[in-house]
Parts: sequence; C-alpha cells; structure tokens
Amino acid sequence: MRPEDCPGSCPFVQARDPALDFPVGQLRRVARVEAEDDGDVDETKRNVLKLLAVAGLVGAGAGGLVGGTLQYVQPPTVGISSFPLTQLLDVDGAALTVDKVESEYSVDTENLYIFNYPLRNEPNFLLNLSPSNGEQPSASNPGAWNVPYGVGTNKSIVAYSAICQHLGCPAPAIAYYPPGVCSQTFNTPNMPSQPFYIHCSCHGSTYDPANSANNLTGPAVLPLPQVLLQVDEATGNLSAYNEIGPTVNGHLNTLQGDYSVGSTSQLANETPIHLCFFGPLS
Ligand code: FES
Repeated sequence: MRPEDCPGSCPFVQARDPALDFPVGQLRRVARVEAEDDGDVDETKRNVLKLLAVAGLVGAGAGGLVGGTLQYVQPPTVGISSFPLTQLLDVDGAALTVDKVESEYSVDTENLYIFNYPLRNEPNFLLNLSPSNGEQPSASNPGAWNVPYGVGTNKSIVAYSAICQHLGCPAPAIAYYPPGVCSQTFNTPNMPSQPFYIHCSCHGSTYDPANSANNLTGPAVLPLPQVLLQVDEATGNLSAYNEIGPTVNGHLNTLQGDYSVGSTSQLANETPIHLCFFGPLS
C-alpha cells in the first residue's frame, strides 16, 4: 500500500517490508534502511573496490619484492678499514715457515695451497716458484727467482688472488699450472718459453706468476691482485700484511664484502682443475 492510497484514518503507512512499518510522521533514516535492505547492490562500486583491493595487494607484494631485491643487491656493509697482519698456518694448523715452504713446495707443485686474506671470502694462491732442485732457474730448469715482492731465500715465494679477474671464477677453476701440464708456453720477462703459469679454465685467461700475475692471455685484462708477504726474522714464520694491484674480483673494495680473516689464516690443500684451453691474447 502506498502512502497516497491510505485513507486519512489509516494509522500506518506500510513500507515495502512489513518489518519496517512505522507510524506516520515518525522520523526514520529511510534512505539508509532502503539501501541496506533492498538488496540493490551497486556492482560497479563493488568491482571498483575489488580492483582497489587487488591493486593494493599487488602493490604491497611488488613493494616487498623490490625491497627484498634491493636488500639483496646492496653490497654487504661488513668489512675492515685496513689490511691486517695475518700469520699463515700450514694445512695441519702449525705455523707456516719459510723453511717449510722452500723444502716442500716448488715450481713443480701441482696441488693448490690456498689461504684467505684479508677477508674470509678472498682466497689466494701461495706459490714457491723456485725449481725443485734448488738451482738457478733457466730455460732447461724452469722456475723464477727474484720475483716482484717475493720472499724467502731466492725471493721466489709469492701469493696472488685465486679469483679470476675476468668473471670471477675461483680456485680450483683458476689454478696454477706447473711445467708440463700443458704444452703451451709463453715468452715472458722471466724466460723464453716459460712453461708454468696461472690459468683459468672458465674462459682461458692466463697470468704470469713470475711477473706480478700480469696477463698472458685474455679475456681478462687485469692482473691478479698480489698479497704481500713478510717473514719473521726470529721464527721464519710467514705472514700476509697487504695486498696490491686491482681490487679482488667481485668486491667493490678489497677490504669490503666479508669479515676479516683475523690474526691467522690456514692453508687449504685443493686439487686443481687443469684445462689446456688458452684465450686470445697470447
Ligand atoms: S672467469 Fe676466468 S677466464 Fe673467465
């Protein structure tokens, strides 16, 4: 019954829902009651709200992803402010002395002796380039004495980064090659047809351990960083105290990107990967 159909004595105006009957003249919030009650849902508004909700979730997810990605690509903030003095320990944990290196390692040593310095994720080769017979190096007695920054009796003990300067392949993919492993030789400042080198099996880069780890073949164009060693005159113990050359590959700064090795660093003995493939710069 519509209000206009109701006679003057009619005490009520009947609404569309009997439950909503109300006396004539009584104030009601009619508009709101009808909106809640008539089931006439605005689908357009509902869809817009759904889209906004979905957009919010996607935005939150994307924000989380971007935040997570940024957190991932941000370089670690850990590091040190200067190069530490780090005593080297042999694979058995004992102090590594010059006498031990000179008696046990030579230019013919095939296994890799690796120590971390100055950070825990920066491995380095320890090499003794002196001929195994202890005699003067020559074309017929391969080896090197008086190597730049070399220590020991004949300044033949050196250390270089064991992370390739091309794309960062670490040891044992980059490895020292003693004479005879590959037939390849190089004319170097040290000797003609030098048969020993550091070589990376990832893409063929080669470095000269007798001459500051300079490039013999690419694709790497930078030498390997060199760790500087010193000998304690009283004990003969070997220590690392600095690093020169380019930044260790994969680090924005050689001193940043992991925690310090601390006051000692122990050698690890690794089996090399040898592959006689040489890059284009020979
Ligand atoms: S990473 Fe060593 S040659 Fe490419």
